[in-house]
Amino acid sequence: MGEGVLIGLPDIFFERDGELWCEGVSLSRIGREVGTPCYVYSETGIRRRYDALRSAFTGVPCRIFYSAKANANLAILRLLRSLGAGVDVVSQGELFRARCAGFQGRDIVFGGVGKGAEELGAGLEAEILLFNVESEGELRRLSALGAERGARAPVAIRVNPGMAVDTHAYTQTAHYETKFGVAWEDVEDLYRLAFRLGSVDPLGIDFHLGSQILSPEPYRRALPRLVELAGRVARTGASLRYLDIGGGFGVPHDGGPELDLSAVAEAAGAAAKALDVEILLEPGRWLVAPAGVLLAGVLYAKRLGGRLYYVTDTGSNDLLRPSYYGAYHPIEAVRRGPATTAADIVGPVCETGDFLGRDRPMPALQEGDFLAVGFAGGYGFAMSSNYNARRRAAEVLVSADGYRVVRRRESLADLVALEEPCEAGP
Ligand SMILES: Cc1ncc(COP(=O)(O)O)c(C=O)c1O
Repeated sequence: MGEGVLIGLPDIFFERDGELWCEGVSLSRIGREVGTPCYVYSETGIRRRYDALRSAFTGVPCRIFYSAKANANLAILRLLRSLGAGVDVVSQGELFRARCAGFQGRDIVFGGVGKGAEELGAGLEAEILLFNVESEGELRRLSALGAERGARAPVAIRVNPGMAVDTHAYTQTAHYETKFGVAWEDVEDLYRLAFRLGSVDPLGIDFHLGSQILSPEPYRRALPRLVELAGRVARTGASLRYLDIGGGFGVPHDGGPELDLSAVAEAAGAAAKALDVEILLEPGRWLVAPAGVLLAGVLYAKRLGGRLYYVTDTGSNDLLRPSYYGAYHPIEAVRRGPATTAADIVGPVCETGDFLGRDRPMPALQEGDFLAVGFAGGYGFAMSSNYNARRRAAEVLVSADGYRVVRRRESLADLVALEEPCEAGP
């Protein structure tokens, strides 16, 4: 084992023989053999995260439903299923992926603010554990669809707790200037409506505080309020089995303090006890982000207006987070060397906002060198696009036996596969 480098879990990504490695494979080998850009995930890393989360919640009656939106590659879904996780999906596509990965209905919760009739129908067909419902219209629609099928839909109402949580504006979901959930004051009426509608079974209550939350404090604040609300809901006749506390567990990218999960678990455990319910967790990022990197190839070094730019073969189409959220992702040269300069690491996309990092200390790099962009195992590939008709990256899973490509790089033919026939073959 070499020395840990801050691009993810330090015992998974480390320096050895002057290079960066992922478990037992050097990143430059993957770069040469698979090509770049490519996402590299560590199976051992994801296993360790899952085990660590489980042990943080020891003693709390709870189940983990991995949030597929973070990374829905089938190999990742299968891995988490094999570890005992259920899955949280937010679209028919994610539900389909979950089914392809072997998840049974009882292992699936279905969230999302805008589930259409076809999507709700697919959830009913799959006999999922729980629909997290976000509006009266959705509750009515679900009940009507259940009635058509002679089925009762198991539901939790997602509550908007009307709370400000300290995270990026675009990942705040728990206050009234966001579209999510049902207003606190309307919740009891919705449970009463559920009884009147007849084809929905109100079995749970749900909230989600946002994403990339690095302090237990919002959970500590929200949970006692939810207990109080659930007590009032119980008086409508609902006998609640589940308290779904959503996801949002954050991962520091800069070596800062980790989220104190045991404090979250303590608050969740107290709520579970007070209500006599099972806690459902929907973590995405925490499980996968630090177990993956994005591997980029350096195309050119150029100087402009006093700045040094390393132009790479990957950019905001592959990893949107720096441009979209201003997110900081550490970037390290795979071939190690002392940092001698500061450079902007940019991509090939025709947007000024297309950058991976600015003013990063770097050794002198040459064309063909590789860079590893850290903490990219979650919300990396999942948010990628074909903008500028760029082919989406390959994905690689490293395990104790070596590595395998779990999604091939898209081909030129893939880019036009859904359109009218193409005159010139690619
Ligand atoms: C309802 C819900 N559950 C779970 C998650 C997963 O969040 P994270 O990856 O931050 O754990 C999200 C993310 O947006 C969400 O909206």
